[in-house]
Amino acid sequence: MMDLILFGVFPYVAVALAVSVGLYRYFVERYSWSSQSSQFLENRMQFWGGVPWHYAIILILLAHLLAFLLPGAWGQLLGKPVRLYLLELTGLALGVCALISLVLMMYRRAGDARVATVTSTVDWLLLASLVLQVATGVYIAFTLRWGSSWYVYTATPWLWSLVRFDPQVQYLAVTPAVVKIHAVNAFVLISLFPFSRLVHVVSIPLSYLSRPYQVVIWYRQRGRTM
Ligand code: HEM
Repeated sequence: MMDLILFGVFPYVAVALAVSVGLYRYFVERYSWSSQSSQFLENRMQFWGGVPWHYAIILILLAHLLAFLLPGAWGQLLGKPVRLYLLELTGLALGVCALISLVLMMYRRAGDARVATVTSTVDWLLLASLVLQVATGVYIAFTLRWGSSWYVYTATPWLWSLVRFDPQVQYLAVTPAVVKIHAVNAFVLISLFPFSRLVHVVSIPLSYLSRPYQVVIWYRQRGRTM
């Protein structure tokens, strides 16, 4: 019963919440649809945390997506041991990099009074959930060998069964607890999406490509502060 709720019902609740609240926020509170950058408050740690984090997590999510969308090609890619080792090693390095940069970003939020002031409870919830997601991912990669390979026989059919509105929870029910936590927490992250600054993930500023350019004119004289 618990498996059905966690892997067969909760994913739909999370996606429904993300879409409905996300759309509401987009149309009603458009100006809040942002990462609400704190870069102008503190730049150095933001650079060393934020830049590696984005490169690492985007590549890791791309690998998750490829194994989900093209399981056949993914299986062939990993068919040769050398390619499997290389991919697992790269994944592990990226996972550790993502984890370290995430911890750095949390340290920055807690340690810098200016940044702490603009950090809400939802921001902390989101960061905690991200740490759990990345830490469990790295733990799986480290302890349950060849996850990139068995993902195709567990996560991929489970995710496709959700897409077909015919949840087959048995694919996840047989996996170790840490995999279950990793999978459910992915949907916790999706449910947090519309309530947090994570919305910036789907805000691609395409209109910038076609909008008229802006001319910025300084009225103050050079050298004067006011
Ligand atoms: C928000 C979505 C997700 C994020 C941010 C995420 C993040 C991560 C990270 C950081 C790793 C470690 C990569 C490595 O060190 O190799 C990982 C590994 C893994 N993830 Fe996820 N994940 C997500 C969703 C999922 C879902 C829905 C599943 C399905 C059960 C899943 C299954 C796995 C598996 C099996 C591994 C181990 C891969 C390996 O051993 O190479 N992930 N994930």
